[in-house]
Amino acid sequence: MIRVFAGLLALALAFPASSLVEEVPFITTPDNVTLEMLKLAGVGPADHVIDLGSGDGRIVITAARRFGASGLGVEIVPDLVRRSRENAKQAGVADRVEFREQDLFETDLSKATVVTLYLLPEVNLQLRPRLQKLKPGTRIVSHDWDMGDWKPDRTITVDAPDKAIGREKSSRIHLWVVR
Ligand SMILES: C[S@@+](CC[C@H](N)C(=O)[O-])C[C@H]1O[C@@H](n2cnc3c(N)ncnc32)[C@H](O)[C@@H]1O
Repeated sequence: MIRVFAGLLALALAFPASSLVEEVPFITTPDNVTLEMLKLAGVGPADHVIDLGSGDGRIVITAARRFGASGLGVEIVPDLVRRSRENAKQAGVADRVEFREQDLFETDLSKATVVTLYLLPEVNLQLRPRLQKLKPGTRIVSHDWDMGDWKPDRTITVDAPDKAIGREKSSRIHLWVVR
């Protein structure tokens, strides 16, 4: 019994809570959904958009290319970070966006005016206390997943014919404005 407990304790120490989110798979937000997320947040040239779990960089790159924003993408998979930097160069926005290999739970969010998420419900809930403490007026946009009883200011549903998962080819987008 003591050995089992010691084993569990060793596992808990080896895999802290934040490593759970490494299980969030790489699934892209379709391009039309990315555009709708950024429009719902009202992204413009004065914004700094941080995408937590930025995959191939598409949300931050689109924010810069289509809306003139600056941005930061944080991603734990090194190859995706490399790909994002390459994609940013090809899109001509490498001077306005940064991609960092980092655990999203360790990211400094203080410069964000917009935070975008396509993670998992339990990860959103873990992030929620930090998001609620951001500067008043900061917009949080989440693809598909909500934040429990922190009710969004707006939710829209958009067709997503290119969505890689699920039978329903539509996406929900939630917007919260920090007060
Ligand atoms: C569902 S994908 C979303 C990608 C992109 N944001 C999009 O919407 O197209 C989630 C991403 O989060 C990344 N991820 C998972 N755990 C992470 C962590 N702890 N820190 C940073 N990124 C993480 C995954 O590698 C994956 O690329």
